[in-house]
Amino acid sequence: MAITDFERYPLTFGPSPVHELKRLSDRLGGARVWAKREDVNSGLAFGGNKTRKLEYIVPDILASDADTLVSIGGYQSNHTRQVAAVAAHLGLKSRLVQERWVDWDDPVNDKVGNIELSRIMGADVHLDSAGFDIGIRSSWENAIAEVEAAGGRPYPIPAGASEHKFGALGFVNWAYEVAEQERELGVFFDTIIVCTVTGSTHAGMIAGFAALEAAGGPKRQVIGIDASATLDKTRDQVKRIANNAADLIGLGREITDADVDIRSGWEGPAYGIPDETTVNAIRTTAELEGVILDPVYEGKSMAGLLDLVGSGTVAKDSTVLYAHLGGQLALNAYSSIF
Ligand SMILES: Cc1ncc(COP(=O)(O)O)c(C=O)c1O
Repeated sequence: MAITDFERYPLTFGPSPVHELKRLSDRLGGARVWAKREDVNSGLAFGGNKTRKLEYIVPDILASDADTLVSIGGYQSNHTRQVAAVAAHLGLKSRLVQERWVDWDDPVNDKVGNIELSRIMGADVHLDSAGFDIGIRSSWENAIAEVEAAGGRPYPIPAGASEHKFGALGFVNWAYEVAEQERELGVFFDTIIVCTVTGSTHAGMIAGFAALEAAGGPKRQVIGIDASATLDKTRDQVKRIANNAADLIGLGREITDADVDIRSGWEGPAYGIPDETTVNAIRTTAELEGVILDPVYEGKSMAGLLDLVGSGTVAKDSTVLYAHLGGQLALNAYSSIF
């Protein structure tokens, strides 16, 4: 099987835009930096990386005859907001478990931004006081059982859609999309920088670029930036999911530790808690480019990029592609920082 053999249900506008961050690159004085914009990839509730992942999951949802999507995330989960949007778009219900993943003292944390949109879209939102974990949660399993007990037909989607059997295919395809856009633009991105938390975004890219390379394409590095301060667990999860994706697309080789490059140092004190480097990255990108990043994910991956490119760790003659995965709605719950 190749990626083109998997059915894809369109939820995005098409290939997401790619453009250069000229003023940011000039400021850093090192590698040239471009961005690929998953934050504007869809008309469904502002889109984002989960919308792209869900394109490969929707055919399985429709085949299952389910009537309720059941998923889980933090109070300000971008993922659950995108699940709610896809449910609305398909005429299904959504049941969302929203846990207190972040100890962030903002009185509207469970009211504004992502969670507000999920409620507007008709999702059945249940708050839970449990803390952060990227694994499979009993609260989610209970929600699935409750939907069933009430006579519903649940379709389970794990956190970030990462542990779903097709969760990484959206970003396998992203790699092919990048290769096509490189041909059109006459540019080659030797370095990709991506935020990594539940893992299937990064894992899909690893498998996708490995397949392109196996087909004779050029070698490049995909650098994940940890945003959850649970590095060992994240590395294991990314490797496992990348191997699952590699099997699905018939890569023909194993994804090893050497393929999984996740760097730390910009994760802040915990998942969802920004530090000075996060806030600096958000302000710098906004002031120089008018591009908005969030304090949970993209501010952290951009903080990593600013250091790696600014210090010359990524070579000066490199061309870097920054994967902007969305997430700005959470800014509503972080107004005190700014
Ligand atoms: C805006 C944003 N960036 C990055 C990520 C990380 O992606 P993943 O969970 O696939 O590692 C997420 C979701 O967790 C997200 O919502």
